[in-house]
Amino acid sequence: MKTFYVTTPIYYVNGKPSIGHAYTAIAADILARYHRSLGEEVAFQSGTDENSQKNVEAARAAGREDDVQGYLDEMADLWKRTFDALQLTHTRFIRTTESNHLAAVEMFWKAVEAKGDIYQGSYEGLYCQGCEAFVTEADLVNGNCPLHQKPPIVLKEKNYFFRLTAYREALLEHILTHPRFVLPESRRNEIVSYIRNFMTDVSISRETMKWGIPVPSDPAQRIYVWFDALINYITGAGYGTDQAAFEKWWPAQVQLVGKDILKFHCALWPAMLLSVGLPLPESVFAHGFFTVDGQKMSKSLGNVVDPVEMVERYGHDALRYFLMREIPFGGDGDFSEARLQQRYDGDLGNELGNLAHRVLTMAEKYVGGVVPERADGFLGEAWPAYRRAMEECRLHDALEAAWSLVRQANQYVDQRQPWTLAKNAETKALADTLYVLLETLRHLAHMLHPFLPGFGEGLFQRLGLGTSDQLALSPPFAEAWGGLEPGTQTSKGEPLFPKREES
Ligand code: MSP
Repeated sequence: MKTFYVTTPIYYVNGKPSIGHAYTAIAADILARYHRSLGEEVAFQSGTDENSQKNVEAARAAGREDDVQGYLDEMADLWKRTFDALQLTHTRFIRTTESNHLAAVEMFWKAVEAKGDIYQGSYEGLYCQGCEAFVTEADLVNGNCPLHQKPPIVLKEKNYFFRLTAYREALLEHILTHPRFVLPESRRNEIVSYIRNFMTDVSISRETMKWGIPVPSDPAQRIYVWFDALINYITGAGYGTDQAAFEKWWPAQVQLVGKDILKFHCALWPAMLLSVGLPLPESVFAHGFFTVDGQKMSKSLGNVVDPVEMVERYGHDALRYFLMREIPFGGDGDFSEARLQQRYDGDLGNELGNLAHRVLTMAEKYVGGVVPERADGFLGEAWPAYRRAMEECRLHDALEAAWSLVRQANQYVDQRQPWTLAKNAETKALADTLYVLLETLRHLAHMLHPFLPGFGEGLFQRLGLGTSDQLALSPPFAEAWGGLEPGTQTSKGEPLFPKREES
């Protein structure tokens, strides 16, 4: 069976999950559900990045300085509960303080060392604790890190270094010969220019940090948090603990990240893998960032949006739909609750929900809810466009492909006017029209199921098809016209996107 392994970044636990964190995880969930529908075996990993100094500082700020691990346990639990509340279908929630991760990191470090890619040096320079990365004067705006609005600290230490520059040519070669490695394409130049012109060896240990994984040969030093964190992707696949699982799952097909951490994932991470002789992930997809009502989302501005609150107000489907539709996946965008409401009322309520409800109601009214004999419909290029978009993680384009079908179906209702056909007793034309519409709904349920699981399930049920796990979701059945058997009993049920109560 074909496998599909998708990952999200692992999240710092110095605060609770925001809509920005949920964004990556929801996108990964959509890919996971989609690949399950192709009949593939799917691993979907997310988790928490716990060896960062900023977690330690958050523990201190919460008065938990003497109980950092206890604080991390509680926070990791909060993140897990949030991801469950968002109904994400991850198969593994990894924490970097787990013992098997420590084992994997030790094994990895030793392999890099054996390769001769670790050397001792000293470092003096600026370090942004927010980024957990060294920065240069050129990165600063008015003396501050532009991402974190704080000045960097001066760090002077004896450290271990990773010979990142030894992989410059190999990385460039890989990126040029594997067009899917850095996605979307627009990010490729950025990373190529960085690797070619700016990449230096990187310090991968800290002398002054007390939290973190000890360097195996020199426990007074702690492993640099990014070096440890990146390894999570293979720990979760079985590296160091379960060789058979590891061979089955690695390399990952898609690693989703935000554009802020592209360099770590498209330069440092593949170089680390090359150093130990492991295959590189098939693709790293970097999505953009969004603001909230036009402003950067930040604790100090008090505009951090809680994803669970949005789900409570509008439902899972609406939040997922909005995030994937409003912000082109790969570009930047803006989150606004007012826009979410508009999309709920318009796209989901008036266009999609209304189509489904109208068609099912007419089927009940005119043919007792019994699917009529097959008739020809109008799928056109919807499926190929949808599948291509999904393969390239253009999630917004996949939605657009489905929506072109929604719009066509609504126009078809208006043109054919089943109520007029019924009044004029044009039985055959009415039956054909209803078949086309019901069968189109089935195709929409298939396409939209990964994005709108509630809607997809609801529609499968109303179409008399049972639940998605009883269904062959895979391409031959999903895509071929005529899958809905004549004689199947449908039911209109409740509207799937009921009118909102005005808040
Ligand atoms: N711990 C590191 C990642 C290590 S992966 C080996 C980290 N964590 S983070 O919690 O700060 O952010 C993780 C990700 O959350 C970002 O890369 C991005 O995917 C997502 N986002 C956080 N805020 C966001 C927005 N405002 N908009 C879009 N995505 C955002 O970096």
